[in-house]
Amino acid sequence: MPKIRTAVFPVAGRGTRFLPATKAHPKEMLPIVDKPLIQYAVEEALDAGAEKLVFVTGTSKRAIEDHFDVDPDLERALERSGKTDLLDAVRNIVPPGVTCLYVRQGRPLGLGHAVLCTREAIGDEPFFVHLADDLIHSEEPCLKQMAEHHAEHGCSVLGVETVPMDQTGNYGVVAVEAEPSGAQRVTSIVEKPKPEDAPSNLAVVGRYILTPAIYDHLSQTGKGAGGEIQLTDGIASLLHDEAVHVLRFEGRRYDCGSKIGYLRATVEYALRHPELGENFRAYLQGVWER
Ligand code: UTP
Repeated sequence: MPKIRTAVFPVAGRGTRFLPATKAHPKEMLPIVDKPLIQYAVEEALDAGAEKLVFVTGTSKRAIEDHFDVDPDLERALERSGKTDLLDAVRNIVPPGVTCLYVRQGRPLGLGHAVLCTREAIGDEPFFVHLADDLIHSEEPCLKQMAEHHAEHGCSVLGVETVPMDQTGNYGVVAVEAEPSGAQRVTSIVEKPKPEDAPSNLAVVGRYILTPAIYDHLSQTGKGAGGEIQLTDGIASLLHDEAVHVLRFEGRRYDCGSKIGYLRATVEYALRHPELGENFRAYLQGVWER
């Protein structure tokens, strides 16, 4: 199975849950300690073997393009002042040989529509989709775990985890059955079901490997939950033609699209940070004892 070379990052959403912070600033540029969410996303995709990064952008998202662009003035200034660590940090965000492409989603019509916008940029090969606001901390990067599953089985793969039953309304939710190989095959998928309608409590989080067949299905997909063109509905249609598997990845997920998830990630990444961790732990203990 040829390796997956392309990663899609839909970053054209409005980020309303974070207003007013996201009025003029992309949600995906919110930092967790010292790196923006979108940089964690790109690093995960690069670790999984991606060489082409396709960002689906919209209004107020220029900062993302600037972040992955070369900044000669900043580099010269850091060089002159001998700040070599910082120079490395800004220079190597995207390694040589990796291409960044920006596709514009004119209006945020939904995640399915955002993915459909990448059709020309992707062509006829499987690709990763990574939602930067789902941050996953794991030994082996989540997309890499999924790429290994794809290399073995060749089909689309959805990253999933179990969620409390009363939260199914926030996710795409799947029903699965075991194949003889032990792989879990999706039998149905539904976007944001009420708990009483949900086929299970196995929720799709922001990691996908999709075969290019998804594009034909998305092009036929109308508005779904919330009046948006939903990727979930495109996948539901894909199920009629192809096997789609789920992978219960190893790792801890933080929903950084919500304020509480963002705060949890900030605290836990700060505690793990090699330079800040010890100091921050002592500070938190002090806060707790106050
Ligand atoms: P969300 O459901 O988190 O929506 O989208 P959002 O607009 O970003 O945030 P809220 O809910 O208003 O706070 C999931 C992902 O899909 C992208 C978003 O940028 C996010 O990464 N997306 C969503 C698009 O690229 N285009 C869309 O039309 C919708």
